[in-house]
Amino acid sequence: MEQALTKRIVLGITGGIAAYKAAELARLLVKQGITVQVVMTEAATHFITPATMQALTGNPVLIDQWQDDKGMAHIHSSRIADAIIIAPATADFIAKLAHGIADDLLSTLCLARDCPLLVAPAMNKQMWANAATQRNVQRLLADGVSLLGPASGVQACGEEGVGRMQEAAKLAQDIIATFQPQTLAGRKILITAGPTYEAIDAVRGITNRSSGKMGYAIAQAAAELGAEVTLVSGPTSLAQPNSTQRIDVTSAAEMLDAVKQHISTMDLFIAVAAVADYRVAQPSEQKIKKSDAELTLELIPNPDILAYVANLPKPPFCVGFAAESEKLREHATEKRKKKNIPLLAANLAQTAIGSDESELVLFDDAGEHVLPRANKLTLARALLRHAASLYMKGNTK
Ligand code: C5P
Repeated sequence: MEQALTKRIVLGITGGIAAYKAAELARLLVKQGITVQVVMTEAATHFITPATMQALTGNPVLIDQWQDDKGMAHIHSSRIADAIIIAPATADFIAKLAHGIADDLLSTLCLARDCPLLVAPAMNKQMWANAATQRNVQRLLADGVSLLGPASGVQACGEEGVGRMQEAAKLAQDIIATFQPQTLAGRKILITAGPTYEAIDAVRGITNRSSGKMGYAIAQAAAELGAEVTLVSGPTSLAQPNSTQRIDVTSAAEMLDAVKQHISTMDLFIAVAAVADYRVAQPSEQKIKKSDAELTLELIPNPDILAYVANLPKPPFCVGFAAESEKLREHATEKRKKKNIPLLAANLAQTAIGSDESELVLFDDAGEHVLPRANKLTLARALLRHAASLYMKGNTK
């Protein structure tokens, strides 16, 4: 399991219908070991009760700046917080933040803070698009405030557009990301992910079973550590991770081309893609007509992208993957040697493909390190921490 975060967050809730999502957000943060102090505006209490938030966080909710016996809740609460997150943040509250208005406990606390402020806007699309709101948002960004969202979709009023609050799971993920040490700041990482698809004819092809989830999780974990991430992705239906550059490819040859184009400036290369081992020697441009006769395809081997990168005169720090169906240790050790790479992450294909969870065993010069079963993002973070520490030690072979 991932280590619990010993962090304290002030969760500020303002008066919008999305306040109900703040309950789930609080639950997810508490589950990660984060201490959550909820501060609500008076308007927020019309949408969700302080009793709910108190029950979920185990801490009394602060609302009124005059209720605190020491009269210093705004200073005290912001001093002990590692971050303040306002979710939902109404247009009105964003306007207050942008202008330094402090007329209730939550706005005063934001003004008195000495920690990062994250804001998750939630409002009708017209209110979001309004020039005044956009001016205020630009001012917040210029002041170093982080904006989480808003998302696009159906709104409580029935309209559809940009303005709804991001889902709690996404917010929790982004908040936790801000607590990751920036060990890869300024480093460039190239990651291959997903399957490749090798055409047989205009409609048929050969591919591998791979959802791309592990590669995408690694791209996200790398971005969280401050790396500049380029993700070369085969066909998947996954959303692009925040703060990454994605290059879409289809075949192994296209993947190799994209890698060749970018590899010279990279510090690390992580090959997660399930590249098809073979391609059809002469794919047909037209659909091959079905008949009762046997069809023979000539298959020729695809280039090994990881081996190409690892054998460059000045290779980046290379990490490979191995999905095996048996004899994990034996095959993985052999593969690491054959591919000439310092770190290899191995898993059993039958427990990993398509799943949100997996378990990994890392193989390096020091031996093997088991990362027990967890969701792929948790594993990706642990793998990245391991790779980053080897890379920093200059252990490239
Ligand atoms: O040899 P095998 O396919 O098992 O090796 C898996 C590792 O090599 C993975 O890291 C995969 O991304 C990479 N690979 C590659 N190009 C290939 C085949 C595998 O980069 N053609």
